[in-house]
Amino acid sequence: MGRVATDFAYLATIVAFILALKFLSHPATARRGNWIGAVGMLIAIGVTFAQKSVVSYWEILVGMAVGGSFGAVAARRVKMTAMPQMVALFNGVGGGAAALISLAEFHVLAPDPGRLHGDISVSIILSALIGSISFAGSMVAFAKLQELIQGRPIVYLGQQAVNGLLIAAVVAAGVAIVAGAEKQWLIVALILGALLFGVLFVLPIGGADMPVVISLLNAFTGIAAAATGFELENNVLIVSGMLVGASGTLLTILMGRAMNRSIANVLFGAFGQVTPQAAATAATDGGTVRSASAEDVAVMLAYAHKVVFVPGYGLAVAQAQHDVRQLADLLEQKGVEVSYAIHPVAGRMPGHMNVLLAEANVPYPQLEEMDEANSEFSRTDVALVVGANDVVNPDARNNQGSPIYGMPILNVDQANAVVVLKRSMNPGFAGIENPLFYNPKTVMLFGDAKDSITKLIADVKTL
Ligand code: TAP
Repeated sequence: MGRVATDFAYLATIVAFILALKFLSHPATARRGNWIGAVGMLIAIGVTFAQKSVVSYWEILVGMAVGGSFGAVAARRVKMTAMPQMVALFNGVGGGAAALISLAEFHVLAPDPGRLHGDISVSIILSALIGSISFAGSMVAFAKLQELIQGRPIVYLGQQAVNGLLIAAVVAAGVAIVAGAEKQWLIVALILGALLFGVLFVLPIGGADMPVVISLLNAFTGIAAAATGFELENNVLIVSGMLVGASGTLLTILMGRAMNRSIANVLFGAFGQVTPQAAATAATDGGTVRSASAEDVAVMLAYAHKVVFVPGYGLAVAQAQHDVRQLADLLEQKGVEVSYAIHPVAGRMPGHMNVLLAEANVPYPQLEEMDEANSEFSRTDVALVVGANDVVNPDARNNQGSPIYGMPILNVDQANAVVVLKRSMNPGFAGIENPLFYNPKTVMLFGDAKDSITKLIADVKTL
């Protein structure tokens, strides 16, 4: 295939990837976005296969068959709650692939020291370094989320100094290679050092912060892939790598902002390590907790004008999305106005609640983002909190001593009444008390969210 035809086909791929990102940004068009991205990838693979430079087709096909079947089976089987670790795994192997390609390129291009051009050696070093960090870091993130290792931050004295020295040594090896010391052992040492750094960098970060870390490592993998594109002189790899790098960076920043935490705090704050002190700062105003029966709550809901469902991580754990939709439909049939208030970091991954509710075919117009939902709570009769905790904690607004002070929240306490569905008084991800549960407006309906919603459906039907 000629150079011009190849470039045009790659351009078509790039346009497809950009359109895919655009469509993926809304639940209503996300499936279409996925298809457009897949078609773009198919074009890129087809065009790359048509290049004269391909040395062995069957080796590539075997690799594709093994990787493709693993990916297809894993993606079909994964549970929604295990999606973050799945993304970590897939992201990690992307980084690992970039690092392996640079090792192979270095081996082929630099048999004798001093032969590499600066631009190529810089790309090789960058993809080896960043790809290895991304691979090792993602594997630790996967292991933490899969509970193969403990999720709590693993910290020791002088950790940051050790990490600092290690990364400085790895960068120094990279600079030496670019300066002409093109020794094979040096790039192997660089990759091993970067792998070790990836592990040590992610170990001190708490399990619940992993989605932010994975998003950051995803950006790293994109940059490593773009550097590989320079190595292989492949334009589509450069652009698609940068698209991943840019979108991963933006997602990381947005997640940090929605939690009101800087990225530095996520990476170096060992969040989730000292819950007792954090819990002690919570203001419960000496109030008492009132629990209600499903019958009582059903009456509140059935006779309300407006009910807002506020889903959180517990909805995902209980897998109660279909039941929630059923309850909402039932209330609508009784003339109740129903909507869903979606906090940007409710759950454990970006868009977690949107995905769950879309799975249950909740109509998109009923989903309200935080600002829109907050303007509605004052005219809401019942805010039904389904397995959410931190994202409705008024301490984020009122208590300067709280670890989540300043995080934007859903102001459910402005509704006439609040019903909280959870199993116990246990805290959520931030490990802190929630004064909302002690508010005189609030009643608790204890139990698994799926069981409680099933009871509510049965009771509302009788009214
Ligand atoms: P959380 O604050 O984690 O609270 C979830 C609540 O669900 C828990 O208090 C738990 O109480 C309850 N729950 C668990 N299983 C349940 C079940 N089967 N039935 C009923 N309730 C159940 O969740 P949230 O309000 O969604 O907040 C998310 C938190 O995660 C925020 O702090 C956010 O910063 C953090 N975070 C989010 C992300 C993204 S991107 N979404 C990424 C990193 C961190 P019980 O144990 O008493 O039932």
